[in-house]
Amino acid sequence: MDDLLSRLDQLQKEAEADSARLSDAALSEQFRIKYLGRKGAIPEILERLKELSPEQKREVGKRANQLKAKLEQAYQQASQRLSSGQVKASGDFFDYTLPGRPYPLAKLHPLTVVTNQIVEIFYRLGFELATGPEIETDYYNFEALNIPAWHPARDMQDTFYLDNNYLLRTHTSPVQIRTFESKKPPLKILAPGRVYRHEAINVRSYSTFYQVEGFYVDRNVSLADLKGTLFGFVKAFYGEKTKARFRPSYFPFTEPSAEVDISCILCGGKGCSLCKQSGWLEILGCGMIHPNVFRNVGYDPEKWSGYAFGLGVDRIALQKLRIPDIRLLYENDVKLLSQF
Ligand code: DAH
Repeated sequence: MDDLLSRLDQLQKEAEADSARLSDAALSEQFRIKYLGRKGAIPEILERLKELSPEQKREVGKRANQLKAKLEQAYQQASQRLSSGQVKASGDFFDYTLPGRPYPLAKLHPLTVVTNQIVEIFYRLGFELATGPEIETDYYNFEALNIPAWHPARDMQDTFYLDNNYLLRTHTSPVQIRTFESKKPPLKILAPGRVYRHEAINVRSYSTFYQVEGFYVDRNVSLADLKGTLFGFVKAFYGEKTKARFRPSYFPFTEPSAEVDISCILCGGKGCSLCKQSGWLEILGCGMIHPNVFRNVGYDPEKWSGYAFGLGVDRIALQKLRIPDIRLLYENDVKLLSQF
């Protein structure tokens, strides 16, 4: 009789552990077969009761039936849970009323989107892509671009200087020089990239931003080519109705130089807060490449002519997406970024 009682003790422990794991239909069927099935542990014990005296039978039989009832209950509860769907395969409790887990899709940053749109338009016009280093030398960033030592762009205020005469490029124009040095004309190049300026950070300016540089060198490239290309770009990028104008300007590496304004994309030119009541938005600087720049790279300015332009990607993105503060482009707050 003692061996039956200790067998019951052992079964009880085992069954308790097993019943905690009844997380799917297969496990619960295994449980039923192991303990309650025709050849299961409980019937086996009940079968052996006949070996006992009536007194022992009563004691062992009572315990065996108690355990049997408990196991049947555990089995039935598990079956109920499983059929009502409250349990998933891992055995966790699953509440179908909980909101689903969000899987936010990654998106391109607005600056990437705008850069890609710009690149695509010029790509169709035959421009090839080039890049250059963000850490530059004084020569490529200034000297070779005909920017003399007194030019305000060289001021400590504007440039992040590094050790050993290196600096963070303040514009993408050095890619012109690097390309001219490694290739021969004709060339038609687009160079998007990041630039850096040591400026007070505010709504309109940041310590880093993006530009797209473009340049074309060939025989007899004229200001009319530049104008036609840029006005074509404005129509492609902003839509047919958008007007563009050249406004005379100055850059040391172009002569003549101009800036391109477009009719305000918010008010259409009537005047609003975006265009500061002027009706126009500035989007880029441009001009005919200065003969000195050609001389610096060993191109004969009598033989070659070319135009260049530099677009401010951030400004264009802010205008186009109506983002009121440039800093928002660099804070990477998902709540903002997911709106575009
Ligand atoms: N590099 C100028 C800047 O960062 C922009 C620019 C103006 C680029 C005229 C050009 C250009 O290529 O021709 O302010």
